[in-house]
Amino acid sequence: KKKIAVMTSGGDSPGMNAAVRAVVRTGIHYGCDVYAVYEGYEGLLRGGEYLKKMAWEDVRGWLSEGGTLIGTARSMDFKQRWGRKQAAGNLISEGIDALIVCGGDGSLTGADLFRHEWPSLVEELVADGKFTQAQVDPFKHLTIVGLVGSIDNDMSGTDSTIGAYSSLERICEMVDYIDATAKSHSRAFVVEVMGRHCGWLALMAGIATGADYIFIPERASVKGKWEDELKEVCSRHKSKGRRNITVIVAEGALDNELNAISADDVKDVLVDLGLDTRVTILGHVQRGGTAVAHDRWLATLQGVDAVKAVLEATPETPSPLIGINENKIIRMPLVESVKLTGSVATAIEARDFDKAISLRDPEFIE
Ligand code: F6P
Repeated sequence: KKKIAVMTSGGDSPGMNAAVRAVVRTGIHYGCDVYAVYEGYEGLLRGGEYLKKMAWEDVRGWLSEGGTLIGTARSMDFKQRWGRKQAAGNLISEGIDALIVCGGDGSLTGADLFRHEWPSLVEELVADGKFTQAQVDPFKHLTIVGLVGSIDNDMSGTDSTIGAYSSLERICEMVDYIDATAKSHSRAFVVEVMGRHCGWLALMAGIATGADYIFIPERASVKGKWEDELKEVCSRHKSKGRRNITVIVAEGALDNELNAISADDVKDVLVDLGLDTRVTILGHVQRGGTAVAHDRWLATLQGVDAVKAVLEATPETPSPLIGINENKIIRMPLVESVKLTGSVATAIEARDFDKAISLRDPEFIE
C-alpha cells in the first residue's frame, strides 16, 4: 500500500488546511495511507507521534479553518545534513516514500534537496546500523511534490499561491476600516503590508482600495525624487476634494539605490506636506483568518493533483510543483520555478524590473 506524507512548512497561509484535507481524502480515495507530518520539518525530524496516519473524518471541517492545523515551523535542523538523515530514517520507519509539501520557495527547495540526497542518506543509515539493506530496499527513491502555500504570491510560474487572495481580501478590509477614520479626520495614513520581496499584495490592495500612492520593490522609486512625486500626487488629489490620503508601502519596498523605503520615511514626507499622518503596520492579521473561496478551491484542486502526481511519479521525473496558469491546474519542475523565483530577486536588486516581471511569468518554464 502506497504511503504518502503531507506537511505544511514555512509561514502559514489561509488555504493550507484545505490542501491537507484534499491530499488526505484523495489519497484515501486512491487506496493510499496518508500521514500528516505535524510541525513541518521539525516533525519530520522528531518522527513517531509527529507522523500521524489520517482518517477521512480527521479533516472534516478543515476548509473553513485559518492557519495550518497540523502546525508549521521554520526548522534550522532540517537545513543540516544530519537533520535530513534523521528525517529519512523516520519516514522509512513508517514505510513512507512520498512527501507532499505545502510551503514557500525555501521549504520547497529543502524538499527537493532531500529527494536528491535520499539514496545516500539511506546508504548511511544502513552503514550506521539503523536499518538492514533488506529493510531499505523498497525505499530507493523519495517522491516529492510541491504545493505553493504563501500569502506573498511570489512564486514564478504560478498565477496565485495558496493564501494570497485571502491575505489580499483581509488587507482591503483593513484599509477600508482605516479609510473611514481617515476621512472623518481628513488624515493621511501610511499602511505597511507584508509580501517579503514581492509587491503583489501591496499593488493589488492599492488598486482594490483606490490608494493614492503605492510603493513596491518592483518599481524604482528614485531616491530624492519620489518624495516630490508623492507630494505632487497627494496635493493633486487633495485639491480635487479628497479628504483622506492612503499610501500603501510593501514591506520590501526599495529605492533605486536599494535603500529600504519604510512607512516612517513616507510619513515624514506627508507630514512635511502638512498632512496629519498616521502609520498602520498591518502585521500578522494579514495571514490569519479563514481562507477566501478562491484559496479553498485552489488548494483543493491542487491537493487532488498532488496525489495524482505522486502516483504517476517515476524516479526520472523531476519533482513537480503544482501551479495554476490561466485557471488551469498545471505541473512544472519545482527546481525551475524556484530558480526563476530566485532570479526575480536578483533582477529586482539589479533594478531590472521588466526582467523581474517577465521571470514571474509561466511561459519561461519549460
Ligand atoms: O512569507 C510570508 C510572510 O508573512 C511575509 O510576508 C513576511 O515577511 C514573513 O512571512 C513574516 O515572517 P514571520 O511570521 O516569521 O514573522
